[in-house]
Amino acid sequence: MIMKQITLLQPQKIVFGTGCIQTLVEDYKKLGYQRLFVLTAPPILPLIEPTLAALKAAGTNIEVFDQIMAEPTLNDFNAIVEKARQFDADSVVGIGGGSVLDVAKLVAAFVHSDQQAADCFGIGFIKAKGLWFACLPTTAGTGSEVSPNAILLDERDHLKKGIVSPYLIADAAYVDPKLTWTVPAKVTADTGMDALTHCIEAYTNKFAHPTVDIYALKGIQLIAANLETAVKDGKNQEAREALALGSLYGGLCLGPVNTAAVHALSYPLGGEFHIPHGLSNAILLPSVMKFNAEACPKRYAEVAAALLSSTSGSSGDTNDIRLAQQGVDFIYRLAEAVGIPKKLTDLGIPQSAVDGMAKAAMEVQRLLKNNPREVTEQDAKDIYNSLY
Ligand SMILES: [Fe+2]
Repeated sequence: MIMKQITLLQPQKIVFGTGCIQTLVEDYKKLGYQRLFVLTAPPILPLIEPTLAALKAAGTNIEVFDQIMAEPTLNDFNAIVEKARQFDADSVVGIGGGSVLDVAKLVAAFVHSDQQAADCFGIGFIKAKGLWFACLPTTAGTGSEVSPNAILLDERDHLKKGIVSPYLIADAAYVDPKLTWTVPAKVTADTGMDALTHCIEAYTNKFAHPTVDIYALKGIQLIAANLETAVKDGKNQEAREALALGSLYGGLCLGPVNTAAVHALSYPLGGEFHIPHGLSNAILLPSVMKFNAEACPKRYAEVAAALLSSTSGSSGDTNDIRLAQQGVDFIYRLAEAVGIPKKLTDLGIPQSAVDGMAKAAMEVQRLLKNNPREVTEQDAKDIYNSLY
């Protein structure tokens, strides 16, 4: 097979390991910055208190902003970036889930920019690198700590939109699985399914590439084998580490390959009904896998083999279509085991909303173009309707 050219852009430094938040302190002290704007969320504050204290003791001025909404809007972001300007930040750290990290990335990019975030939705519109910034994920996860993507809800049309730019890649990412120990079971389930979706959508992507296939397949194995354990026993260090690594692998696929129809169809559920990102992906994932499998059965058979390797191993079946279906069945079982609802009615979304959601999903062409099978507006309606 002739390989296409691909560019891999990643943080200059990626630190992984339980307790590695301490490395951030040591690294930051050497950088010479003095005014650090920290974005986080209230449940995380107790976990990072010693880190902030160590930085303050080293002479760093710190402003903490911890009021980021679950699905931040453009207006929310504009208010936060103004706070960073008033503080005169010279560096930014995001410690949190995907929304916190996305906002941190955007704050670093726009704090001293003459551009507006509202003008930069899409790929490649940010003109210049902003402040030095680091990302520490506290869920496993969105993979945002290593991706060039940030998502905001545009309240002008109630659509969740992406800003994608090499300037949104963190200077450093510290993936400390210990930060995920206190994540509640439901959030562990939702975010774990999001990470699994990143890996599956990268491996079955129209632009899939051997340079990241290896991350995607290994990520699928790690998450499939450990998600249920982490949901049921949040303090299980081994499961939390495996999930954090699987999430990192999924994140490393996002820049060069990115996601596809699951994410595109998921955004209207978040934009209009404020369904958490991971949960909406989790509900859509098996239906989209079923829809896509006929377009690339071999790839979906390989996904199934990776999923199944965590349990009984391969079924011995050599028929790609049947194997692909076993992968879909595995996702149904896993979703049920970790408490993901099956129907859109379970999320309070009326079937009368389907036409509008399908129309909105069609706007997400930056991801739909990656899908191995073309998705028409009618296909989107059929997929949503299959979830009632
Ligand atoms: Fe995602």
